[in-house]
Amino acid sequence: MKLLVFGVTGFIGSRAARQLVGDGHEVYGFLRGKSEAKLDGLAGTVRGDLLDPQSVEDAIRTLKPEGVLFTAGERYPSGRVNNRYLELMQRSRVEGTRNTLEAIVKLELDACFVSVSGALAYKRHQAYKGEIRASLSREVDEIDGSTWFGDTLLKWEGVIQSYVNRGINASIIRLGAVYGWGGVWRERFFEPMLHHSRTFVPGNGRISVSFVHVEDVARAISYIFKRCSPGEVYNVVDDEPVELRVFLEEAAKTFGAPPPLYVPLILARISFGAAYRLIAPSFTLSQAVSNEKIKKLGFEFRYPTYREGLQQVKKEADREIQEKQVVQT
Ligand SMILES: NC(=O)c1ccc[n+]([C@@H]2O[C@H](COP(=O)([O-])OP(=O)(O)OC[C@H]3O[C@@H](n4cnc5c(N)ncnc54)[C@H](OP(=O)(O)O)[C@@H]3O)[C@@H](O)[C@H]2O)c1
Repeated sequence: MKLLVFGVTGFIGSRAARQLVGDGHEVYGFLRGKSEAKLDGLAGTVRGDLLDPQSVEDAIRTLKPEGVLFTAGERYPSGRVNNRYLELMQRSRVEGTRNTLEAIVKLELDACFVSVSGALAYKRHQAYKGEIRASLSREVDEIDGSTWFGDTLLKWEGVIQSYVNRGINASIIRLGAVYGWGGVWRERFFEPMLHHSRTFVPGNGRISVSFVHVEDVARAISYIFKRCSPGEVYNVVDDEPVELRVFLEEAAKTFGAPPPLYVPLILARISFGAAYRLIAPSFTLSQAVSNEKIKKLGFEFRYPTYREGLQQVKKEADREIQEKQVVQT
């Protein structure tokens, strides 16, 4: 299949593109600005900006892809940002998706569109500092629009649904907290842990979280492209929601670092500015999500729990260090 990937330089998009290339697809990447895709096997790249509808249309007209993967969105901030940045984050997801789907409609392409979305914003399982476990949320359950992330998901998925209603072949993959040797988990926790440093967690860590290893996300994306089921939504999370504290303590042990320290949420409020609205739910709201639907479709997780997943992350980190040492000598 000829595929175009939006977000090909990102944590998820780069892994998904690698998987899709490995599975025999002809994969192109959409790049903005000066970004470069460091990926062997890409068939080519096109340049543009998701917030510039003409550039999205031009890219799609040039390539005429049979499938489009949307794994893009303005990057999560690593420090303080203002409300305008949060608006940009939301617009890049919502308007970026609309611009892509509109181009597919305008060019009358019969393309299979797959977008990622989030699984950690279901309504029923809210908890503030305390609740550890809850029953598992399913795809049919309501999303809680009261958080920044939930509000973004409702608008983002709303756009996709409106194009499904117009006959576009689009499906949604709702992801749990995606971890691996990359992305924010690497930056905030695994990399410092690898250097045996202590890490800091806002809140008390006593919430449940549904995680998923990035390799399983990439495999699930490829699996869904094979089926292309319009209008379907799938949660992609592993089998075992876990207390955030347990996950991070296991990670520290795996990397040989001291256990994390839990700091009052007020400190995160001071250091993240407007981004606190974005970050706080990840450390305060319990989300335990079901993966039954995608498993019933026949998908098998390679890392069904964080225990095997964290071992793989450590192996990948060790491999990277060894490769760097070989280059230096
Ligand atoms: N990671 C998770 O746990 C998780 C969970 C659920 C949902 N998601 C969603 O999945 C998506 C991908 O996540 P990620 O962790 O892979 O994000 P990421 O590493 O920050 O990557 C974001 C990608 O989007 C691209 N991008 C941003 N704005 C763009 C624009 N205006 N035009 C074109 N490309 C643009 C970035 O390109 P540049 O290289 O140019 O910056 C980058 O390739 C995001 O929408 C995220 O909200 C992630």
